[in-house]
Amino acid sequence: MKLIIINGPNLNLLGKREPEIYGQRGFEDYLEELKSQFPEVKLEYFQSNIEGELIDKLQEVGFSYDGIILNAAAYTHTSVGMGDAVKAIETPVVEVHISNTHQREEYRHVSYISAGAKGVVLGFGLKSYELAIRSFL
Ligand code: DQA
Repeated sequence: MKLIIINGPNLNLLGKREPEIYGQRGFEDYLEELKSQFPEVKLEYFQSNIEGELIDKLQEVGFSYDGIILNAAAYTHTSVGMGDAVKAIETPVVEVHISNTHQREEYRHVSYISAGAKGVVLGFGLKSYELAIRSFL
């Protein structure tokens, strides 16, 4: 089972960024925990703040991996290009958000990713990633 977590803009600042919303833990630290929780999964990680790089990565892995766990962060709410990429590839994508975006500003209620996603996990903090991995097992 080969999965990849793809994180979008500002998620490199987890732990420092608005900790009251996103928590106090950096993602690299959490990733180590995930890897030890799922030793049977080959788990890769990619983060970028650049929309085109995220689309390139979706295209690169989207015909050979077993699953993609995608937190497109702010691009979720703006990027037709990322939504199209999710629809264009064959690998199933589970959309993830740390926060419950539906409890937040109205512009976060829209997702360009969801229509092409296999499913959506949101609002469980970093545990949203764990639940998304479990959905592939
Ligand atoms: C987020 C929610 C988005 O609205 C926001 O822009 C993010 C993170 C989340 O994981 O809760 O950067 O995707």
